[in-house]
Amino acid sequence: MTSAILSAPSVSVRAPAKVNLELRVGPPRPDGFHPLATVYQAVSLFDQVTIRAGDDWSVEISGSRALGVPADETNLALRAARLLAERHDIDEPVEIFIDKEIPVAGGMAGGSADAAATLVACDWFWDLGLSKEELATVAAELGSDVPFLLHGGTALGTGRGEIITPVLTRGTYHWVFAPSDIGLSTPDVYRQFDEHNEAVGFTPPEPASSPALMAALMSGNPEQLAPVLMNDLEGSAIDLRPELEEIIVEGRHLGALAGIVSGSGPTIAFLAADHESAIDLAVGLTATGVVTDTYRATGPVPGATIRGVPRVD
Ligand code: C5P
Repeated sequence: MTSAILSAPSVSVRAPAKVNLELRVGPPRPDGFHPLATVYQAVSLFDQVTIRAGDDWSVEISGSRALGVPADETNLALRAARLLAERHDIDEPVEIFIDKEIPVAGGMAGGSADAAATLVACDWFWDLGLSKEELATVAAELGSDVPFLLHGGTALGTGRGEIITPVLTRGTYHWVFAPSDIGLSTPDVYRQFDEHNEAVGFTPPEPASSPALMAALMSGNPEQLAPVLMNDLEGSAIDLRPELEEIIVEGRHLGALAGIVSGSGPTIAFLAADHESAIDLAVGLTATGVVTDTYRATGPVPGATIRGVPRVD
């Protein structure tokens, strides 16, 4: 595939996965979405999207996490390319190649990363010259997380998660991610959240991010960040996948400063004290057999970034 791509003008863009350091969820809005106050961090686990001109619109997926990604019209990267083309009266179909490393339906925004990368790639390829803000408007139509994956770094997401405000942070955080073989559906997790609240008669307050989290991020100290990591969807993800609790407990035993469900799950994100502790934790988790696979990553990292420029042979 690579040689075929390189024999024609192409552009490659890499986009990171995300973890939610804080995910505060309010009661459902009339449109069905939930108001959020979430602090996203982009981490160094990447999908790479390459595009080139094609006779028709298409998408092809390869890489360690390709299984289960639709290669049809429902693919979010393909939808991103088509939407951007429609908005700018472009009639130049592209072939999209996705090299997938981010777990699918894992709560790490893999599909959104592909969409963000595709928007950046198409903007370059079609010479649209759009600003990040203009791309973010299209991104928000594709999914709540997509604007953040354009942005990267560490940022507050409000609205349904699509309104992005940068957050000041110091230092680099070391993460170990424990993915599950079977993904969780985001709508199912939000539904479980609503049903549980209804059953116990609880109305969530309007979501707000915590000053303690912002202070921890300014300190650059993972020991200060660990106790303030918070995910309102964690209980719902665990209701649907009780085994996640065991993974969190095991990670804490093995020295993780904290373990939380990433976004709507089922991936578990462990915060480690430093690089060495992250290696020990990753090895320990697989050795105990509670997970089959782990990823180490650091954050924050930049959002969707051009990697390879078009070339003509
Ligand atoms: O925006 P996105 O396409 O990622 O959302 C997927 C689904 O997750 C939505 O259809 C909705 O069920 C749920 N969701 C929500 N509130 C949000 C974001 C997502 O209820 N703020």
